[in-house]
Amino acid sequence: MESKWLAMVLVVLSLGSGLCDGCLEEERFALFQLKPFFEFIDYKFQDLINDDSVYEKESSSNCCEWERVECNPISGRVTHLFLNYSSYEKIQYWYLNTSLFLPLVELQNLSLHGNSIAGCVANQGFERLSSKLDKLENLDLSNNHFNNSILASLSQLSSLKSLNLARNVFTRSNPTNGIEMLSKLNNLETLDLSSNRLGNKILSQLDGFASLKSLRLEDCGLKGTLDIQGMFPF
Ligand SMILES: *[C@@H]1O[C@H](CO)[C@@H](O)[C@H](O)[C@H]1NC(C)=O
Ligand SMILES: *[C@@H]1O[C@H](CO)[C@@H](O)[C@H](O)[C@H]1NC(C)=O
Ligand SMILES: *[C@@H]1O[C@H](CO)[C@@H](O)[C@H](O)[C@H]1NC(C)=O
Ligand SMILES: *[C@@H]1O[C@H](CO)[C@@H](O)[C@H](O)[C@H]1NC(C)=O
Repeated sequence: MESKWLAMVLVVLSLGSGLCDGCLEEERFALFQLKPFFEFIDYKFQDLINDDSVYEKESSSNCCEWERVECNPISGRVTHLFLNYSSYEKIQYWYLNTSLFLPLVELQNLSLHGNSIAGCVANQGFERLSSKLDKLENLDLSNNHFNNSILASLSQLSSLKSLNLARNVFTRSNPTNGIEMLSKLNNLETLDLSSNRLGNKILSQLDGFASLKSLRLEDCGLKGTLDIQGMFPF
């Protein structure tokens, strides 16, 4: 009888410590599914400028303690994922399967900066995340090789407040494939389009962005003097 009670107490205790450990099993599994694409996901940030920097693997089995991961302390779910430069040794451009992020339902910030990504695999674009990841507010896709073909799928991530598309290969384009598609994002406050090949025409495509508060367009090939008075709602 007594040992039965002891067993129950132990079960309760281990369930409790399971919570404190953070990192839910299904999310840990999801992070390991990402590992073949982002090989440094379970490595500490390293100093990329310093050639002598060592690759230091995370020692904790609790993924919430990893440098590239932040979790909600109560739910134990991943809220921030910093995959910036985590496949940077890849020489070839590659295609992302966004469904791999679907288990991370509390994700708020996702950085994919600097990973040589050229687009998404067929039928696995960002639209896949729109219904499940409804807390995703900040998406950083800068320093990759994304082009206009990604815009339709991005325009469905309606929870986005900030979107960084700097240093990709977006171009001026027709309305069915242009930056104006992003005006559907009616919570979007910050948009960075720096260092893309957009040209002056981009200005006339920014009319519909009702919630925008900050826009960066440096190094986008804008020419001449611009009269921006009354041009933007923000
Ligand atoms: C990635 O981004 C995080 C958060 O902005 C930063 O602290 C970290 O140094 C960056 N890591 C690399 C390798 O750029
Ligand atoms: C994308 O990832 C999902 C979830 O892991 C998987 O079911 C699907 O087969 C993958 N699709 C492709 C084309 O790789
Ligand atoms: C844009 O990217 C898609 C996916 O990588 C590719 O199939 C297409 O050829 C690219 N378009 C241009 C104009 O480069
Ligand atoms: C999440 O992204 C926003 C917008 O880029 C940024 O201001 C904020 O610092 C990020 N949070 C963390 C923890 O890095």
